[in-house]
Amino acid sequence: MEHYQVVFLGGGPGGYVGALRAAQLGLSVALIEAGELGGTCLNRGCIPTKALVRSAEVLRETRRAEEFGISAGEPVPDFPRIMARKGQVVSTLVGGVGQLLKAAKVKVIKGFGEFKEPGKIQVKHADSVEEIGADNIILATGSVPARIPIPGADLPGVVTSDEILAETSLPERLVIIGGGVIGLEFAAIYQTLGVKVTVVEMLPGILPNVDEEIVRRLTPLLKRSGIDIFTKTSVREIRQEECLVVKVEDEKGAKEIQADKVLVAAGRKPNLQGIDVAGLGLKTERGAIVVNGQMQTNLPGVYGIGDAVGGIMLAHVASAEGITAVEHIAGHKVEMNYSAVPSVIFTHPEVATVGVTEQELKLKSITYKVSKFPYSANGKALALGESVGTVKLLADEQGVIVGATIMGAQASTLIHELAVAVEKKLTGEDLARTIHAHPTLSETIMEAAHGINGKPLHLA
Ligand code: NAI
Repeated sequence: MEHYQVVFLGGGPGGYVGALRAAQLGLSVALIEAGELGGTCLNRGCIPTKALVRSAEVLRETRRAEEFGISAGEPVPDFPRIMARKGQVVSTLVGGVGQLLKAAKVKVIKGFGEFKEPGKIQVKHADSVEEIGADNIILATGSVPARIPIPGADLPGVVTSDEILAETSLPERLVIIGGGVIGLEFAAIYQTLGVKVTVVEMLPGILPNVDEEIVRRLTPLLKRSGIDIFTKTSVREIRQEECLVVKVEDEKGAKEIQADKVLVAAGRKPNLQGIDVAGLGLKTERGAIVVNGQMQTNLPGVYGIGDAVGGIMLAHVASAEGITAVEHIAGHKVEMNYSAVPSVIFTHPEVATVGVTEQELKLKSITYKVSKFPYSANGKALALGESVGTVKLLADEQGVIVGATIMGAQASTLIHELAVAVEKKLTGEDLARTIHAHPTLSETIMEAAHGINGKPLHLA
């Protein structure tokens, strides 16, 4: 039986990044993966959707070409080629992860791993079973789309983000159940590609975890782009008639929406397949593995990371957790800190957040300062033709930045200055006194920072 100091069950951004770090630390590492390296993120999540977001963006910008003095004619999206490009981006990255692991001397074992006994994993191959011994086992088995318990949820044509990413043609009408991150990213992509999109969300607003004021600004922008959004609306059933019929209900009563495809984007749940939770006595809560700040489970030498432990289900959080787990194994003094996790929603415009939201501060009755700066007062934003956007900063009474939300072009990149600020407890003054290059969108952050204790300069 081969034996390793660390064995990862699952090769997503939690497992493979953790494995790379473990190898850097001089540990012997194996990684067991039943599917493709890179997990949901590379194969069915972050990366393929971002390839589609980019195609939609190119289409949108080309449609606006005249505005910039360019005659380009009417652009026509070619869905099979868009999907082929997405496939190429994914396979390049998956191949890259394989090469990185190989170069780091991480043993990659392809097959379905089962964890039933302490200290070892059984890997099922097509016609054999292999046993791998481990000093430490890191459970990085990810998550799967949650299904909704309504009649018709399993009809053909009712899909999750997994299946929609494998489609070869565009539907005419797409109903999306769930106005969260997945729902809205697909809504933005499909609407831009010419599909009639309707989003059905049961809560009073879309993106329930995002700053409410920013959501109030984003919602009409999405609606104006052509997306129908029904909030406080529950889905009762889906029927197959000549097309799919989605029966929904709000305060005013029931109505039916016709669709050619229905995307269920109602959250994800931890995937603990292959783990004998009861037999091992592994502690779980609401289907997620329970861990401490070092990512240890209740079982000695067993760690849990990524979506399998619930919490903030984001690829970059999984990676940070993987690194924390192996550094703990290597004897470092480490602890996960979730106070400054950036998060991005790749709609148009993009929304990016870090730290606390205003509603959280209000709920906890914490006194705070708020400052906002609009993209419309930023020279670079006007030059880019991207004047719709806002930077919103939240600081405590001492002016320390505790949260931020950006809606607008390149929010996904801009947010990281604020992630550093929240993580390192920088003040508005620290940011305002840092010289920002002109002309850049980053100046919106400097201007908003001026407003924490005083006033932005470029705002009347
Ligand atoms: P989510 O939790 O963000 O949103 C699900 C939404 O569906 C919620 O607003 C919920 O109220 C609604 N919902 C649930 N059941 C419903 C029903 N029966 N009818 C109507 N609405 C219903 O989950 P989502 O969007 O599926 O994403 C899953 C995970 O993946 C999240 O943790 C998300 O953060 C992550 N993700 C992150 C991305 C990013 O960082 N850019 C992109 C995509 C996903």
